Amino acid sequence: MKAVTWHGNHDVRVDTVDDPTIEQPTDAIIRVTSSGLCGSDLHLYEVLGPFIDPGDILGHEPMGIVEAVGPEVQHIAVGDRVVIPFNISCGHCYMCATGLMSQCETTQNHDYGTGASFFGYTKLYGQVPGGQAELLRVPQAQFGPIKVPHGPSDDRFVFLSDVLPTAWQAVVYADVKPGDRLLVLGLGPIGEMATRIAQHLGIEHVMGVDLVPERLERARAHGVQAIDLEEHDDLAAVVREQTGGRGPDAVIDAVGMEAHGAPVGKLAHRLAGLLPDAAAQKLIETAGIDRLAALSSAFDLVRRGGTVSVSGVYGGAASPMNLMQIFDKQIQIRGGQANVKRWIDDLLPLVVADGDPLGTEKFATHHVPLDDAPGAYERFQKKEDGTFKVVFTPGAPSEAAAAA
Ligand SMILES: NC(=O)c1ccc[n+]([C@@H]2O[C@H](COP(=O)([O-])OP(=O)(O)OC[C@H]3O[C@@H](n4cnc5c(N)ncnc54)[C@H](O)[C@@H]3O)[C@@H](O)[C@H]2O)c1
Ligand SMILES: [Zn+2]
Ligand SMILES: [Zn+2]
Repeated sequence: MKAVTWHGNHDVRVDTVDDPTIEQPTDAIIRVTSSGLCGSDLHLYEVLGPFIDPGDILGHEPMGIVEAVGPEVQHIAVGDRVVIPFNISCGHCYMCATGLMSQCETTQNHDYGTGASFFGYTKLYGQVPGGQAELLRVPQAQFGPIKVPHGPSDDRFVFLSDVLPTAWQAVVYADVKPGDRLLVLGLGPIGEMATRIAQHLGIEHVMGVDLVPERLERARAHGVQAIDLEEHDDLAAVVREQTGGRGPDAVIDAVGMEAHGAPVGKLAHRLAGLLPDAAAQKLIETAGIDRLAALSSAFDLVRRGGTVSVSGVYGGAASPMNLMQIFDKQIQIRGGQANVKRWIDDLLPLVVADGDPLGTEKFATHHVPLDDAPGAYERFQKKEDGTFKVVFTPGAPSEAAAAA
């Protein structure tokens, strides 16, 4: 089969690799019809290379049609249409039972001291072959796959794998109620979806910050008060002025470790990229090399006693943070990888609802065959050609899936 593979910094390719097979009684194989490209994939493209091997298959936002199931997989059958959550979780351990599927004790990675495995995401998260491929082996398929109806287009459902639950969790963790003010840093797919979900949940005052003109426009088009980072030397002053001098009740960080405006971190990322893997792994594990511009501004902007909800991914173990400010302002911090299945009962009715309340149908800007993956990665990273959300279409196009 064809698959998108990592070969080095800024070097992804489309390789022909062996088809996956059922290896465990709890496995399933799906034929992938749609598969998202995520901001998290960009961290592999630039920063996390030391934890990934050439030839590893990328991608963690797939959906498709079930081709085969192991004997212990009961809730889905061959021919079913399924979305695959990016976390690989068992559904029956302590963590899964408490709704923390991204911390699943069955698939945690003890070698690195990290949480549940997920698809296409380095040795830190299990080095499990990913879903930007024609076929995908799904471990723990007795629990993970989300069965969805045939009929509507793939775009209605594919974002259940990551964007929708991540954005939903970001808003839940922000702990806002109607009347509160929410500010979202980063208006990429995660941040923009968080603004839509917040509005859907009755939050009227939603602000957003980014620096890409089309992204600011997209958010403004549905009523977000969007601020261009490039136009303001003192973001905090602008935000305070617009929030009665106090700051928003909650701030969501939907940027992560590659934030714009962190020259020292950027240099460290380049340096890590030049070192041999073992030395670079040590540097990332022991030294703080995140680009913290967004997270630092979250602490600065949020009102005293407010909440910072962190969806953006961070990887440096010793990134310097302003603890005095966090303590002095009494800031709550919540975050982490999304617990995908925890939120599906809230989200599934919305993605099939008349009128498409979260706008999933028109969310993707580019549908791209797998062969174009190298270009799509580059355009997404450089934010060129209006690239906002890319969905790869490795298998049957969504119409064919719909007709099945
Ligand atoms: N927690 C999870 O489970 C989870 C799941 C998916 C993605 N993520 C993470 O969420 C983040 C966003 O993902 P995405 O797909 O939307 O990616 P993206 O890279 O498209 O979006 C990030 C946006 O932040 C903007 N930005 C950069 N620096 C900024 C700054 N200093 N202030 C404000 N905005 C800034 C960029 O212009 C961009 O539009 C990434 O870190 C990704 O890894 C986390
Ligand atoms: Zn993702
Ligand atoms: Zn579990």
